[in-house]
Amino acid sequence: MRESDLNVLVIGSGGREHALASALAASPLVRRVTCMPGNAGMASLGRCVPVSVKDSAAICAWARENAVDLAVCGPEVPLINGLGDAFLAEGIPFFGPLAAGARLEGSKVFAKQVMREAGVPTGEWEAFEEFESALAAAARRVEREGGVVVKADGEAAGKGVFVCSTAAEAEAALRTIMIDRAFGASGDRVLIEERLTGQEASVMVIANGEEIIAMPPVQDHKRAYDNDEGPNTGGMGCYCPVPAMPPELHREAIERAVMPVLQWMGTKGTPYFGCLYAGLMMTSDGLKVLEYNCRFGDPETQVVLPMLQADFASILVAAVRNRLDEMRPKWYDGCGVCVVLASGGYPGKYPVGFPVEGVDEASGMDGVSVFQAGTALDGGRAVTSGGRVLSVTALGASFADARAKAYEACSRIRFQNQHFRKDIGARLS
Ligand code: AMP
Ligand code: GLY
Repeated sequence: MRESDLNVLVIGSGGREHALASALAASPLVRRVTCMPGNAGMASLGRCVPVSVKDSAAICAWARENAVDLAVCGPEVPLINGLGDAFLAEGIPFFGPLAAGARLEGSKVFAKQVMREAGVPTGEWEAFEEFESALAAAARRVEREGGVVVKADGEAAGKGVFVCSTAAEAEAALRTIMIDRAFGASGDRVLIEERLTGQEASVMVIANGEEIIAMPPVQDHKRAYDNDEGPNTGGMGCYCPVPAMPPELHREAIERAVMPVLQWMGTKGTPYFGCLYAGLMMTSDGLKVLEYNCRFGDPETQVVLPMLQADFASILVAAVRNRLDEMRPKWYDGCGVCVVLASGGYPGKYPVGFPVEGVDEASGMDGVSVFQAGTALDGGRAVTSGGRVLSVTALGASFADARAKAYEACSRIRFQNQHFRKDIGARLS
């Protein structure tokens, strides 16, 4: 594999992929970045090629014909569907797990089985394929513990998890998943899980088998509205690092929640390769894993990559070349706050097509990065095209500084029907 003058392909079209593409485009090792399919922000970094992220054959064919040196995939669905395996078969360097590793995100029951075998702390659980027995188990848990979590087994675009306080809520969740089949075949099986309480943290590592580079922990804000109210979303903002997870607890999280899974994958002959993301809860009974993701977090990546004080392309090249142990990247030792600007109505229905203004003004501020997600070019200007429209990250010496700067930058970006949370990091500053 070539190690400089790289022709890089970034697969995806969200804020996470804009952050990945920006970090790669800034590298002296990178000659060209192409985004597939990309968005209005990514179009300013390089060419955007309109191929669906679900079309593995077309992505691979394009990468071969265009002599791609390194491909990076943002979203989980292509990974779960075997995009990494397709690149392996072509012999094109690819950063991301094979389908065997992506199954950690693709099946929540598989992830629980791995956790059980690898001795990873997690909430109690049972799996069911039949509605009536799932409902009985959920009702028992509500009666005993005052709550339960119902999860569709398969991939559900982050929407298949229901945190319930009553048997009626659990029944409604089970109906949505198993009877209405809102997530298709992902509703063939459900997990009935102990409801845990505590602060959450996203712990991400870049892994090559059992060699890792840990990223600083991030706290995501998943609910749509201030004070953690409203429906769950893909993420409305985040901050980094996490005061509730100081370095010794972060080390413990890596040792107890990440390494055992990487070792397990290795012993099964399917070493894990790519970003592994453990969603953790810090409970009164210690750290527990809520889920694994087989990819970089969104919006976690938008706050973590601006804090990286090293060349991102060198890290990915080292990962692909089995040389991660040589890398000791430094991270900004201040604070980062990322606020997602969304279309009002998200995660439900929302209108799109409104012009987006003020991005250059905001991203010109010192320590501020703007990453676009649901934007498209319409006659050369950016318009809204999705639920999460952009994310605004600001770095500062303290959370108060980072937060003030992030919200100042947000105030400079204007589009109709804008909605964003006003309380990202508020607890800390
Ligand atoms: P997941 O996609 O599994 O991370 O779940 C999405 C969100 O649901 C998590 O970030 C938590 O806020 C919540 N959640 C998941 N599992 C549990 C659990 N066992 N107890 C309480 N909340 C949970
Ligand atoms: N921010 C949550 C996720 O990426 O799954």
